[in-house]
Amino acid sequence: MQITASLSVQRAEEIASSLDLRKLPADFYANPYPIYDWLREHEPIRRMPDGSLFLTRHADLVSVYKDAHTFSSDKQAEFTPKYGAGSPLHEHHTTSLVFNDPPLHTRVRKIIMGALSRRAIAEMEAGLIELVDSLLNKIEEKGGGDLIEDFASAIPVEIIGNLLGIPRQEREPLRAWSLAILGALEPKLSSTQEALGNKSVTEFKTYLQGLVKERRKHPGDPEHDVLTRLIQSEAELTETELLQNCIFILNAGHETTTNLIGNALIALQEHPQALQYALSIHERNTQEIRRQTTHFDQNSSEKMSFEAPSATQWDTAIDEFLRFESSNQLGNRRATRDFELAGQTYPAGTLLTLCIGAANRDPSVFDKPNELNLARTPNKHLAFGFGIHQCAGLSLARLEGRIAISRFLQRLPNYQLTQAPVRGGRARFRGFLKADFAVC
Ligand code: HEM
Repeated sequence: MQITASLSVQRAEEIASSLDLRKLPADFYANPYPIYDWLREHEPIRRMPDGSLFLTRHADLVSVYKDAHTFSSDKQAEFTPKYGAGSPLHEHHTTSLVFNDPPLHTRVRKIIMGALSRRAIAEMEAGLIELVDSLLNKIEEKGGGDLIEDFASAIPVEIIGNLLGIPRQEREPLRAWSLAILGALEPKLSSTQEALGNKSVTEFKTYLQGLVKERRKHPGDPEHDVLTRLIQSEAELTETELLQNCIFILNAGHETTTNLIGNALIALQEHPQALQYALSIHERNTQEIRRQTTHFDQNSSEKMSFEAPSATQWDTAIDEFLRFESSNQLGNRRATRDFELAGQTYPAGTLLTLCIGAANRDPSVFDKPNELNLARTPNKHLAFGFGIHQCAGLSLARLEGRIAISRFLQRLPNYQLTQAPVRGGRARFRGFLKADFAVC
């Protein structure tokens, strides 16, 4: 099934030549990659109509990510005119760690990372398998469903809900809040989107105030519960910093992971060879389990430890899904001083847009970049960013992706989309809103 609309070189050049992130045509959202390819080849550091720079080369993104002193993540200068000082969206987006520089960034990141340790994530695996299997049971019973609603988005909301200790019956509004708050980061914002974004921050914050009050009375285990961790570090954080960073963690781990799972399972419908390969990973793993189990049975008198098959092939495949259709396509930085890029000097204050989607298909780093090659190694993609702001939840996202995608394929290898999936229609976050499928 063809899902990604093709775009002629001529049309790609036409869109690229007048690219303005606030006025993107529908065919950009359908397939931005030929446009990125054109820019990378002809104008890798493009001056945009608003004076900002749009970067598409992998090496340029890495050099910007590496130098956090020169390239600030602080967004006061952009968000004050965009949202209005004092508005809920302004307070949220200027307080979250991702849009701040040290020292606030360092303080918050340290606290969050403590709850996302390798051990804490490994301990989530069993619950995650149980959750994925229960979703698959329901899908099997119904004979299909919506890949996004019934599967991809149902996983991160539970995982992050658990991470913050949000009672299960209170999780329903989280997805809509998260979509509206992140949606407000789009380059062009309608008044409806802005109003919904502000309302969502206010409702989310009010909800969290109640939850924090409750958690103060009944603290959770700080090894696993990020909210308890943040509360116990209150000497280092103001109430606003605490609440807004909780909202950020929920948002950061939600739409991005939904899109990793949704984009991967939809891409496999368009790339039958990759689907065959993914199914063969499962087949090889099953054979390996059988081999090890038989060996174990035959030697049951001996004390042998049973080892699950290595997850390496799946880990490699997940990184390729992340590269090929990065959930987060654009990032921003602002120069704190004059700087040089590719031999040219630019002034302090310059705003840069880092196009992750383009860098991840840079032919100088990736062989045949427009191919979905699930065995690709090495894979130096930038889907999680790089440097001091590199995604704090990357191990959790990889685990969720691996368990969700591998178990889905294992149970439903003949799944088929029943109609063209509906794209989210966003430049910054790439994913689908709806993808109906049948279990064949
Ligand atoms: C496929 C899933 C994900 C993708 C593609 C993704 C992508 C990213 C990217 C590109 C950044 C860096 C932004 C920048 O440098 O400006 C980032 C930061 C961040 N992400 Fe993720 N993310 C994912 C999942 C998660 C999850 C599951 C969590 C939480 C549990 C999470 C928490 C964070 C946090 C806290 C930051 C801010 C880090 C900092 O500023 O130091 N992310 N993510």
